[in-house]
Amino acid sequence: MSTPPGGTAAIVPAAGRGERLGPGAPKALRSIAGIPILVHAVRSLISCERVGLVVVAAPPDGVSEVRDLLLPFGETVQVVAGGDTRQRSVALALDAVPEENDIVLVHDAARALTPPALVTAVIEAVAAGCEAVIPVLPVADTIKAVDSSGTNVTATVDRSSLRAVQTPQGFRRSLLVKAHASAISADTTDDAGLVERLGIPVAVIPGHTEAFKVTTPFDLILAEAVFAARAARHPEEPGA
Ligand code: CTP
Ligand code: MG
Repeated sequence: MSTPPGGTAAIVPAAGRGERLGPGAPKALRSIAGIPILVHAVRSLISCERVGLVVVAAPPDGVSEVRDLLLPFGETVQVVAGGDTRQRSVALALDAVPEENDIVLVHDAARALTPPALVTAVIEAVAAGCEAVIPVLPVADTIKAVDSSGTNVTATVDRSSLRAVQTPQGFRRSLLVKAHASAISADTTDDAGLVERLGIPVAVIPGHTEAFKVTTPFDLILAEAVFAARAARHPEEPGA
């Protein structure tokens, strides 16, 4: 299949509260090396030449604050109010993506330090003909199932076929619109899950350890360390 003629837009769900990070500002506005998580994520997306538009779903009570924060990026970055679930936030941002964007990425703001090369790899896989593409990593730990009380092991799961899923996830725009329109519940944690329910194949590409999601306070410490290591390697461009 050939490269679609239109552009590529990225949706950034950033409307979560960050409950697991503990008390403080919404997660997307917390900082790594003094720079808000959301700004890191947007930088990583727009450093890819093919990304022509970024639509951020902001906390509904923080839209003007997020707009001010992202003003330096100009019209390439738009801000809409997010919803009460991630899925709803993505759907609201998707409504703001013009039709000429044939490829749409969905990228968690919380994956602040995602290498731009991973963004490019996802776009290229969609452009090459995959309708839905997700970056994944093998599962490192042994995985066990437990009973409903959570106190006893019921099985050891064969991890060889398991993968941990990251973002950006990439889609043909028409497929993502269809997947969201047909969603029955509003609480899926990724968009590829909605595509799977339509019976459409989802392709996987290798993810990247540095595309981890900032979820807990430990992840913030890890992110500071990753950023510092990059800054030492590339003092001019620590995002690289
Ligand atoms: N998200 C969103 N709208 C929501 C909930 C989540 O846009 N109503 C976004 C978050 O801002 C985040 C991404 O979805 O960038 C992944 O969600 P998660 O890591 O769970 O973030 P939070 O929901 O903010 O964190 P927590 O679950 O700990 O509260
Ligand atoms: Mg959440």
